[in-house]
Amino acid sequence: MSTPAPHAWAPAFARRTEGASGELAAILALSAGTDLISFAGGLPDPETFPVTVLLELTRKLLEGDAGTALQYSPTPGLPGLREAFADRLHASEGRRPEVAELIVTSGNIDAVGLLAKAMVDVGDVVAVESPTYLGAIDAFRGFQADVRGIPMDGDGVDVEGLDRLCSATPVKALYTIPDHQNPTGLTMSEERRHALVEVCRRHGVLVIEDVAYRELTFTAERPPSLWSLAPDVVTQTGTTSKTFFPGVRLGWAVGPSAVVSQMVIAKQNSDQCAGAFGQRLLEEYLRGGHMEPQLRRSNALYAGRCNLMLAALEEYMPEGISWTRPHGGFFTWLTGPEWLDTTELAHRARADGVAFVPGRPFHAAHDGCNRLRLAFSLARDDDIDEGVRRLGTLVRTTLERR
Ligand SMILES: Cc1ncc(COP(=O)(O)O)c(C=O)c1O
Repeated sequence: MSTPAPHAWAPAFARRTEGASGELAAILALSAGTDLISFAGGLPDPETFPVTVLLELTRKLLEGDAGTALQYSPTPGLPGLREAFADRLHASEGRRPEVAELIVTSGNIDAVGLLAKAMVDVGDVVAVESPTYLGAIDAFRGFQADVRGIPMDGDGVDVEGLDRLCSATPVKALYTIPDHQNPTGLTMSEERRHALVEVCRRHGVLVIEDVAYRELTFTAERPPSLWSLAPDVVTQTGTTSKTFFPGVRLGWAVGPSAVVSQMVIAKQNSDQCAGAFGQRLLEEYLRGGHMEPQLRRSNALYAGRCNLMLAALEEYMPEGISWTRPHGGFFTWLTGPEWLDTTELAHRARADGVAFVPGRPFHAAHDGCNRLRLAFSLARDDDIDEGVRRLGTLVRTTLERR
């Protein structure tokens, strides 16, 4: 029997998927190559995965609590983990969320997607930092938001620019990553944080504060979270993907109870609940006091890699290239002359056995073509110097050819 010709499905796709780039999946695929030094994906190092503790906790759970751990969970999350998250927030942010202010999610991107689903109508304006995490741009665009980028400087997002946008047009939400941002590695100053929540409060704009890298800090200083400053207008979304492990998809959101209950409704008709097994594991892990020592080990590892990368950039990058000096997180962000095309550079780097992410997809307006992101989280120490050396040579010849 002959195989039927493939059906042309594309005309049947929903209009909201138009322009969906698939760039995030392409980046993850790029970072999975074994034949190259990858500075592409923002993945945690498996060295930080707490395997020994997990073996012990898994046995304990399956022997003593299989009825809960292997069952569906309530949509807002298992009460024990919600308590543990609330305790943690109380200790770190000085504010304990009420029960109705917190939901357990299937990772941070789930929390952002639930907010988009709960808040965004077709054409609504959502402001984001420019650049920002491209998964968030995709999440808002998936609900047909009009995503507008607000420029950043070394202190964070341009609050006056945001104020102007909010004065000119209704803005539904502002999405920000104040700590060790993806992709720039920058942290918002305390002054800017106060100004930001003040502007959003004045215009009635929901602040979505993504704290994916907040706990991955290399210094003791930590500006207050936006949620601790303004729990009336901020919904914070967090994740344990980088601090525990991403193989159980887990995160949280805390915000005004009215917003969180809309997220619970949105979750009921998406995946219904985060997996109970991961929730119980994480609860035991937190209650057992394992998180803080692990964070110290992880942060020492990532700080070491960050220093290696900054030293290599200093040594190999030609004049005309600048970069950020992060105090935490996974990334540094490079800027070249306006004419530099980092997408083209990425293809040539791939041929030289190095991967990174070009700047364009991190910008809602698809600008930023002269920028690129380097992740230092997963590259082996020995590879960092060699990878940056190859990249430096490539950049130098590109600048000289001009
Ligand atoms: C800023 C930011 N938010 C969210 C995520 C996704 O986190 P999760 O794995 O919890 O969905 C990432 C992952 O790269 C990220 O960089």
